[in-house]
Amino acid sequence: MQTGFERTLVLLKPDAVQRRLIGRILQRFEQKGLAIVALKLVQVTDALAREQYAVHEGKEFYEPLVKFLTSSPIVACALEGVEAIATARKLMGATFGRDAQPGTIRGDFGISKRYNLIHGSDSPETAEFEIGLYFSPSEILDYRPSDLPWVYDLNGPEPV
Ligand code: RTP
Ligand code: MG
Repeated sequence: MQTGFERTLVLLKPDAVQRRLIGRILQRFEQKGLAIVALKLVQVTDALAREQYAVHEGKEFYEPLVKFLTSSPIVACALEGVEAIATARKLMGATFGRDAQPGTIRGDFGISKRYNLIHGSDSPETAEFEIGLYFSPSEILDYRPSDLPWVYDLNGPEPV
C-alpha cells in the first residue's frame, strides 16, 4: 500500500443490492478517488452479522439489525486512499436517510430509519477488524491505479 494511505470496509447492505443501487453507490467512491482493492457479493450469516455489530449487542435495534443484514446478499468492498475511513463516511452521510444531507449516499437514496443502504468502518482499528471479517489477505489486491499521480500530488514523501 502507498505510504499515507489507509483502508476501510464498506458494505452495501441488502436494500442497496435489492434496489439495484450497487453501480451507482460504488461510482460515488470511485469518482471521489478512492480505489477498490477488494470486492465481492456475500450472504452474511447470523454469526458474522453478530460479530460485526457486537458493539451494539443489547441495544434495542441489535436484533432487527442482524435480521436486516442477513436478509439478502450484500456487497463487501475494501477501499483505499488518504483518510479513506473518514472520507467514505462523509460520502455515506448521517446514519439515517431522513437526517442525511442531500449529496450523500444515504441522503440521496434513503428515507428509512432502518434500511440505510451502507456501512462504513468508523476507525482504523474497526477497519482492520472488519476487513478481516470479510476478506482473506489474498483477496485484497495491492495495485496502483494508473490515474493515481493525478488524483494526488505524489511528488513529495506523502501523497497530498
Ligand atoms: P454503520 O455502522 O452501519 O456504518 O452505521 P453508523 O456507524 O452510521 O451507525 P451505528 O450507530 O454504528 O449503527 C449501526 C447500524 O445500526 C442500525 N441502527 N438502528 N436507533 C436505531 O434504530 C438504530 N440505530 C442504529 C443502522 O442500520 C446503523 O447503520
Ligand atoms: Mg457504525
